[in-house]
Amino acid sequence: MAIIFNEEKKTISLHTKNTTYQMKIGNLDYVNHLYYGPKMMDADLSYMIMQYDRGFSGNPYDSLKERTFSLDAQPQEYSTLQQGDFRTSSIEVINADGSYSFNGRYKSHKITEGKYDLETLPAAFAAEGEQADTLELVLEDAISGVEVHLIYGVFEEKDVITRAAKIVNNSEGDIHVKKIMSATIDFMNGANMDLFHLPGRYGQERQAERSAITHQINTICSGRGSSSHQQNPFIAVCDKDATEDAGNVYAMALMYSGNFLAEVELDQYDQLRMQMGINSKNFDYLLKSGETFEGPEVLMTFTNEGFTKMSHIYHDFFRNNLNKSRFMHEARPILINTWEAAFMDFDDKKLVEIAKAAKKMGVEMLVMDDGWFGKRDDDNSGLGDWFVNENKIKCGLNELVKQINDLDMKFGIWFEPEMVSEDSDLYRAHPDWVMEIPGRKAVRSRNQLALDMSRKEVQDYLIESVNKILDNANIAYMKWDINRSVTDIWSNALAADRQGEVYHRHILGLYRVMDGIIKTHPDILFEGCSGGGGRYDAAMMCYYPQYWVSDNTKPIDNLKLHYGTSFLYPVTSMGAHVSDASPFVPFETKAVVAMCGTFGYELDATHLSDEVVEACAKKSALYKKYFPLILEGDYYRLTNPFALSNFTAWESVSKDKKDALVSVVITNLTVNGPQEYLRLKGLDAATMYEVTGENVSLTLSGAALMYAGLPIPREVPDFSSMQFEIKAM
Ligand code: GLA
Repeated sequence: MAIIFNEEKKTISLHTKNTTYQMKIGNLDYVNHLYYGPKMMDADLSYMIMQYDRGFSGNPYDSLKERTFSLDAQPQEYSTLQQGDFRTSSIEVINADGSYSFNGRYKSHKITEGKYDLETLPAAFAAEGEQADTLELVLEDAISGVEVHLIYGVFEEKDVITRAAKIVNNSEGDIHVKKIMSATIDFMNGANMDLFHLPGRYGQERQAERSAITHQINTICSGRGSSSHQQNPFIAVCDKDATEDAGNVYAMALMYSGNFLAEVELDQYDQLRMQMGINSKNFDYLLKSGETFEGPEVLMTFTNEGFTKMSHIYHDFFRNNLNKSRFMHEARPILINTWEAAFMDFDDKKLVEIAKAAKKMGVEMLVMDDGWFGKRDDDNSGLGDWFVNENKIKCGLNELVKQINDLDMKFGIWFEPEMVSEDSDLYRAHPDWVMEIPGRKAVRSRNQLALDMSRKEVQDYLIESVNKILDNANIAYMKWDINRSVTDIWSNALAADRQGEVYHRHILGLYRVMDGIIKTHPDILFEGCSGGGGRYDAAMMCYYPQYWVSDNTKPIDNLKLHYGTSFLYPVTSMGAHVSDASPFVPFETKAVVAMCGTFGYELDATHLSDEVVEACAKKSALYKKYFPLILEGDYYRLTNPFALSNFTAWESVSKDKKDALVSVVITNLTVNGPQEYLRLKGLDAATMYEVTGENVSLTLSGAALMYAGLPIPREVPDFSSMQFEIKAM
C-alpha cells in the first residue's frame, strides 16, 4: 500500500517509487501539508512546523490565548476561508446564512485500493495490472456542515499523484460555491523558485516561458470557455537552478477543458502556495442542501531530476493512464488534409484526385476538412447542419468513401460540433440553443455563435447527427474542431440565479457529447483541434490520441511549438503536417519537423513535381519506420529553440536504450562561427553504437555521444536538416 496512516504521529504519507508526500492532522485538527519531495519512507516531518507570534496573523479562537498558532503562517493541505489565512484560498463558499466562511478541519479519512473515478469528469485510470491507491480525506466546517472531500490517487510506479476536491453541502440550506481548487500545495519555503508555463496565442501556442516568482499572486488562467491558445492548464514550479537534467520540479496539469485557474503565491513569510482548479471568474454554483459539487482532477508530479524527467513522467502517464483508445499504441495512418489544399472549394472529383496523387507520396488516409456539409462555401454559414452537401459531394458520401477505399486509403472527416452559423437550418429552427444573453446581441467570432452545450437537447442533437454520418459510411478518422472562444454565457434552460454555473455545465455537456460520439466509436481515430492547438489539455487527451498542434504550419515556428508542447504532452499527440508554408525551407526539413509529431500533409498533392512526390514517398516511409520509436520511446529536447543558437535538435531513445533517432534543423548558421558539438542524451555510456546519417557513418560509445558529442557540419545551407540513426551494436 502506497498510502500510510501513522496513528501515533497523525501523519498520512503518500509514497511513489521516487517521491513522498506527507500531511498531518495537526493543531486543532487543521490538516497541515508537511512535505512533497524525494522519497523518505519512515520520516515524520512534523518537526518542520515552527510557531511564532506574528503580527497581523490572527489566531483561531479556540487556540485560546496561544498567539503563536496562526493559519496564515502554517502550510495547509487545503485552505480555510476567513479563518486568518490571508493567502489566496482553496475554497470560497457563501453559506446559507450569507456568510463567507469555511473552517475546514479533519473529520475522517479512508484509504482504499484502486484508483477512484469521478462521476462527471474525465479521470485517469490505473493501467492493466497496475497498482494505484486512493485516499479520501474529509474536512468539515462544524458550524455550517459543509464538507470538502480531498481525493488523492497514488500511481506508485509512475511517480504521479492525482488530486480532486468535492464540496458536499451537508448544511440545511443552499450554498454558493464561488471557488474550488482541485489541489493546493503549501511549500514552507518558496524563495528563489521559478514558474514555468506554456502561454501562447492563435498560431503560436504553448511557447515555453519561465520567470522568477516574486512576492505576489501569479495567476495563469483562461476565461475563454476553453483551456485556450493563450494559456495551458499546466504549471511547474522549480528551483532557480533547475535545468533539463537536474533540479527540483513540481508540476500540476489540470484535466479540464474549460475556464481554469492556476495560482502561485509567494507570501510575506516566503511561503509558497501553488494551486489549480476551475476559474472562479464568472463562476457561482448553487449547491442545494444534500448535493455534491465535483471539481476536475489535477495530475501532480515531483522530480529532482529536472524538466526532462518531468516530461518523461507525464509522457508515460498520458500514454497509458488517460485514454483507452487502441490507437494510443498503434501506428497512425499518414494523412493528407484538404484544408490548405482546397479550403472549401472542392467536390468529390477533386478529393479523389488529391487522394490519387497523395497515394504516390505514401499517404494512407484522405481527410475531408471543412466545407462538405450544409450550405458551406465560406465560413459565414452552414455550421450545425451536419448533413452532406450533395452539390459538392455529388456521388454521395458513401460512394466517395468507397472510391477512396478502392485506392486502398482510409477516409477521414471534419466536424465542428459545438458551433452554429446564424445562416443555418439549425439556428433558424432553434435560435434559443445558442449562448446569448436575453436582450443583448451575442459577440460573433469567425461569424459563428457557440451552442449552449449545457442543454440536453443540444447534446442529443449533436450525438445523433454526428453519429449518423459516422455510422453510415466507412469513416476511419474524425477531426473535432472548435473555432472560437465562448462569450455571452447564458443558458435559456437555467434560471437567472444559476447562470454562474453555465461555463462549467457547458464543459460537462461537451464531455457527455464526446462520450456519446468518441467512446461509442472505438475503431475511429479522433483528432482534436481548436483553430489549431487551442484546447490542447489533459482532459482532451482522454479522448483524442492526437491533436492538431497549430494552424501555423511554418516549420521554423513549429520547432518552438513542438518544444513547448513536449514539456507536458507526448510528441505523438501532436498532429504535425508538411505544408506549402515557408517555401524557402527545403521540403526535407519540413518533413523532419513534422516527424516530431504525428506526420501528415496539408497541401495540394495534385500540383507537386515528380521529384517532390518521390521525396515525400521516401519521407513517409522513413516516418513509418521511426514511428514506433517516437511513439513509445523517451523524448529529449537537446536544444532550446527560444535561445539564440544555430540549430534546434531533439532525440527519441527507445526504453531499452538500443535505438535512437536524432533530428537537427539548422536555423541560422553564423558566418565563420565555431564548430559545434551536439551532446546526446539517454544512451547507455558503455554500449557501442553505430551512427548513420547522410554522409555519416561512425561507431562511437554512448559515453562519447553523450559527453563529447556529435559534430554538427557547418558547410550546409540555412534551414537544412539532418537525421542520425543510432543503433546499439
Ligand atoms: C480550423 C482548423 C483548420 C481547419 C479550419 C477549417 O482553423 O484548425 O485546420 O480545419 O478550422 O475551418
